Amino acid sequence: DEESPSIIVHPDHKVAKINDNIYGGFTEHMGRCIYGGIYDPGNPLSDEIGFRKDVIDAMKDLNVPVVRYPGGNFVATYHWLDGVGPRENRPKRPELAWLGLEPNTFGTDEFMKWCEVVGTEPYLCLNFGTGTLDEALAWLEYCNSAQDTYYANLRRKNGREEPYNVKYWALGNECWGPWQVAQLTKEDYAKKAYQWAKSLKLLDPSIVLILCGETGYSSWDYYVLKECVTWSVHGLGGDRTKSLIDMHSIHIYTADKEHMANATAPRGAERAIQMASALIDLARIENGVPETVPRQTICFDEWNVWDPIRAPGELGAEEKYTLSDAIAVSVFLNGFIRQAKDLGMANIAQSVNVISPLITTKDGIVKQTIWWPLLLFSKYMRGHSIAVNVRAPEYTGRTNPAWIRATIETPYLDVSASISDDGYVSLAVANLSEEKAFDVKVEGVKKGEVKVYMVDGENVDVANTADEQKVGIKESSWDGVGKFRFGKHSFTLLRWKA
Ligand code: AHR
Repeated sequence: DEESPSIIVHPDHKVAKINDNIYGGFTEHMGRCIYGGIYDPGNPLSDEIGFRKDVIDAMKDLNVPVVRYPGGNFVATYHWLDGVGPRENRPKRPELAWLGLEPNTFGTDEFMKWCEVVGTEPYLCLNFGTGTLDEALAWLEYCNSAQDTYYANLRRKNGREEPYNVKYWALGNECWGPWQVAQLTKEDYAKKAYQWAKSLKLLDPSIVLILCGETGYSSWDYYVLKECVTWSVHGLGGDRTKSLIDMHSIHIYTADKEHMANATAPRGAERAIQMASALIDLARIENGVPETVPRQTICFDEWNVWDPIRAPGELGAEEKYTLSDAIAVSVFLNGFIRQAKDLGMANIAQSVNVISPLITTKDGIVKQTIWWPLLLFSKYMRGHSIAVNVRAPEYTGRTNPAWIRATIETPYLDVSASISDDGYVSLAVANLSEEKAFDVKVEGVKKGEVKVYMVDGENVDVANTADEQKVGIKESSWDGVGKFRFGKHSFTLLRWKA
């Protein structure tokens, strides 16, 4: 009937290319992310370098394309030179972001090696706190230069002949935050970012530079974009085929104690992408940036469900995830697919132990609830996003933040769809309702063999532990005939050959 829920998939209507980098990771020197997470020398589960093999396998399963490093807030007092060369000469330093002690036994070369083993690309964040432009240039030279110069030779001396060719570089992290060791005003930041961008691109014009934004919809975002979105400033009159900065970074963590507010919160993150992308357009218009300059994309380089108050462990960082959070994560990811046109990269914060789908113990790894939708998206939601129409009852209760429902719909069924390069259609459906299953007519589905991958559980509070995995993926198939039942509080991915 007219009112019953329906989904219409349009495999022939491609909306935008999905950038593989939206499945990026993030490893910060924070809590047990590096030490005891990806790096755990002496543990029988580690290789001869000290890399945890179970973590590497998980990263490979997830097919993580890019990993951000070394922070986060940590980077604001990080001097990269402390972390290279013979270990016995590396200084221990007080660490001011998380008030710990940084041993520097894991640094640039270890991270690069780890990326190589995992098969992922490094993305480095520069120290905009206590760091200098000289240091940043030296780091870029160390990583990327093939010339006979001091820092390139230092890299060779440390055992690496070929440049690492690190493509992605961020101009600081959350420089607006009152928690920063050296917080900046938007005016000071924009001036500094512009200068650094100019110099860094002189040294290596091939890099992708990421500007430090806030939520995507603040006056900080508007101001720094307005000051820095321009064409390359190199050469007389500049080069109007290249941009000075290439991406704009935003960060959003969501959480709520009540399930529906928790599960709908990531719709605010989707709205943030739309708003940030409008600010990019506005800056380009106001600055008269010609179309020949590639349009800046959004780098959502920290996202996840995180409530530091409820998270146990050191620094309130070892968040324990429930089924409700897994549904929230699938809503985040659906939003990324729907906004694929504007999203150049996204990095779940973080990859291991700290606010993470993966928790290491000394003798194994726990895959938390949020791991499973992330795995399904990363495996199947690649290629192009495609058009999809959804009719589903609208949630009208409280949302967090409160403004979500005024600006973007919050139906109980949250949906996105994609088509892979080899012609497989994937339909991702989160049923947010705690009470109701929905029987849905799916138009555009191919009758015959539809693969079904389902993530659900007894109730929205269930979680996985080292002893028991209550939430995982259930596989089955459907003939595509009649209605499909999306169970209450579940995430389902349907997949068929177009
Ligand atoms: O990911 C944890 C922290 O959250 C990061 O260090 C910081 O950038 C953000 O505030």
